[in-house]
Amino acid sequence: MTIQMSDIQNKYDLPTEAEMLASLAEGETLPATFYSAPEIHQLEQEKIFAKSWQYACHESAVAKPGDYAVTKAGSIPIIVTHGKDGQLRGFVNVCRHRLHSIAEENGNKPLLQCPYHGWTYGLDGQLKTAPRSQREPNFDCSTISLQPVSVERWDQWIFVNPDPDAAPLASVTADIRTRTDAMNVDLREYEFQVRYEYDMECNWKLWAENAVECYHCPTLHKSSFGMTYHTSPDDYAIDSSENTIWHQGPIKWIPEGVDSEKLEGFRFAFTFPSSFFALDDYVGFIGSVQPVSPQKCWAFVDMYAKPGADPEVVKQWLEMWDQTLIEDKQATDIQQIGYNSGRIPAGRLLLDSESPLQSFMRTTLAALTS
Ligand code: FES
Ligand SMILES: [Fe+2]
Repeated sequence: MTIQMSDIQNKYDLPTEAEMLASLAEGETLPATFYSAPEIHQLEQEKIFAKSWQYACHESAVAKPGDYAVTKAGSIPIIVTHGKDGQLRGFVNVCRHRLHSIAEENGNKPLLQCPYHGWTYGLDGQLKTAPRSQREPNFDCSTISLQPVSVERWDQWIFVNPDPDAAPLASVTADIRTRTDAMNVDLREYEFQVRYEYDMECNWKLWAENAVECYHCPTLHKSSFGMTYHTSPDDYAIDSSENTIWHQGPIKWIPEGVDSEKLEGFRFAFTFPSSFFALDDYVGFIGSVQPVSPQKCWAFVDMYAKPGADPEVVKQWLEMWDQTLIEDKQATDIQQIGYNSGRIPAGRLLLDSESPLQSFMRTTLAALTS
C-alpha cells in the first residue's frame, strides 16, 4: 500500500504542510525527521525519484546502434539503448521473468540477453525468445516487453525519467537553459578524465543541500574550493527557481602566467532532485547523488578537462575537486548524527546566503505532499 504523508505526520508528530511552508518562509529547514525516517525515504522514491529527470550518461556511451548504458533513477535500475533504427530508448533494467537485471555494465550487442535464464530482448525492449518457451502452451513472447521509461538528451547529456509519460525535460530545465546552452558548448569539448565516487553515511538531501549552497565554502573548503574560487557573497552569484539552481563565481587561484581577464570562472547548474554539472577554465564535471537508504547515499562525479589545458594545472584542479568532495562527505556524515539526535526539530537558514536550500526544500515538500 502506498504510504501517505499524513500517516508520516501523525506517526512522527510533524507540523502540517501549511505550518512547514510557513516555517520554510521564515528560514527554518524541513523537519529533522525528513532526513532520517524510513517512511520519508519510501515516499521520496515514489513521489520524487520515480517521477523526476535524472542524469544517466554522456552521449558517447550510447553513440552507436547496439550501445546500451546502465544507470539508476533513485532505486530503479535503468538501461538506455540505441536501437537499430537510431532511436534512444530507456527501460527498467529488470527482466520480466524473475526480475534479474538485463545488464550490469555498459556494452554493445544486437540483442539484450538476461544472464540468468537467457530471456532475450530486442533493443526496443520486446521479448524475442525465451529458452524452452515453445514447450509452454500459452507462452507468447510478443505480449512481453521490458518496462519503458522516458529518455531525453540535454545537449551531450542523456537524462532518464522512470515515468514513461513524464513531461518533457525542457519543462524542468527552462529556467537555466540559456545559461547551460553556453556552458554545454564549452563542456562538449572537454575530455573525460576520471569518475569520482563517494559513499555517504547521510540522507541524500543533506548531500544535495550541501551541493547547492556555498555559505560553507570559505570555512569547510578553505584549502580546496574556497582557495580556488572567490566565494564571498559579492563575488559569487546564486540564483534558484523551483527546479533549478545556478552558481557562478570568478577564479581566485590563477595559474602562473595566465591573464585572469581571459578566464570565464566557475559555472554550476543543478536540477531537482539530484543532477548537477559545472565547469571552469580547466575542468568540468557532471554527476548525481542517489539515495541508498534513509541515511545513506552515493554520488558519482565524472570529471572532464579542457583540451590543451596545462596538465599540471588540470591535475591540481582534479585533486582540489576530490578534496572538496571528501570534505563535503565528512561534513554531511557528521550532520546526519545531529539530525538523528532527536533534540533539534529543524535547522535555521540564512536566507541571503542559503536561498537555494529554501527552494530545494520547498520543491521537496511540494513533491512529498502532492
Ligand atoms: S530472470 Fe531473466 S531470464 Fe530469468
Ligand atoms: Fe562543498
